[in-house]
Amino acid sequence: MYGNDYGPDDAAGESGKDRLPRRDEPLNAAEAADLEGYFDGLIDADQRIEPRDAMPEAYRSTLIRMIAQHAHSEIIGMQPEGNWISRAPSLRRKAILMAKVQDEAGHGLYLYSAAETLGVTREELLDRLHTGRQKYSSIFNYPTLTWADVGAIGWLVDGAAIMNQVPLCRCSYGPYARAMIRVCKEESFHQRQGFEILWVLARGTAEQKAMAQDAANRWWWPSLMMFGPPDSGEDASKGHTAQSMAWGIKRFSNDDLRQKFVDMTVPQAERIGITLPDPDLRWNEERGHYDFGEVDWAEFKRVLSGDGPMNAQRMAHRVRAHEEGAWVREAAVAYAERRAAAAAEAGAA
Ligand SMILES: [Fe+2]
Ligand SMILES: [Fe+2]
Repeated sequence: MYGNDYGPDDAAGESGKDRLPRRDEPLNAAEAADLEGYFDGLIDADQRIEPRDAMPEAYRSTLIRMIAQHAHSEIIGMQPEGNWISRAPSLRRKAILMAKVQDEAGHGLYLYSAAETLGVTREELLDRLHTGRQKYSSIFNYPTLTWADVGAIGWLVDGAAIMNQVPLCRCSYGPYARAMIRVCKEESFHQRQGFEILWVLARGTAEQKAMAQDAANRWWWPSLMMFGPPDSGEDASKGHTAQSMAWGIKRFSNDDLRQKFVDMTVPQAERIGITLPDPDLRWNEERGHYDFGEVDWAEFKRVLSGDGPMNAQRMAHRVRAHEEGAWVREAAVAYAERRAAAAAEAGAA
């Protein structure tokens, strides 16, 4: 997912007043007692939990929060790049970018479908996004100022997404894990197209080279923030990581994934011929990893809580698109109903 899994629980603690509606009845006491052993057995054996399986409410609500946050990030993530479809520098670039943005819409669809298997409706999840009760990745609250930003997003943002999402292919919840397999294949293409955009710019005019460098300067730190706040060492008990790892939802800590991303990306930056904006970035022979500087977590919190450069615009655009698309949803429902009625009539005849 696009990081940032640390919002409030959807179950809203013990009060349950903010609890998401579910389609089936809650378990009775005897089932609940039996459920624990059954569920723990599946998790211990590293088996997948499927929608038919009984699961603890906290596991269900954690997954709903994670998958919804991921789905929201996919569809909000269409906006910064959609901004450049009409201004892509060639027909080839335009076709590639349109395919990429369309892929992100598809990722949102797979993920909303995966969340629906947990007994929550897509309408409810979108309502939670539109009313600010669920988050999307803070990375999409930064503007895309130049064409090079499309390259930097593909290379860094999709690159960080892959780092987060590949382990989710082995996540304990079956529908989420299966959705991730196709998503990851498409993300790899996105990452390569971004790398290639920057590679070409870095071999262009001095102005194009400067544009590529400027984009990398602006997107590097927000990309590192995508993995979420520190959650290892002293911070191991903070956030949701420990519980999510015990449940087999997460396989690595935010910090481990961030380190892997830095280790993967530094040699790529050298290949492109751009510098990453961190004076503390250097190879540590002893650790066998790159050391890097401190992420500005105050900025991260500020942007996530609504005060980033583009938060208001992203949400206004999303809500407007949803409202303007109401007639399409209504038409689809009417068509499905008419077909179902016709099928029933044919069956009765
Ligand atoms: Fe995606
Ligand atoms: Fe992507």
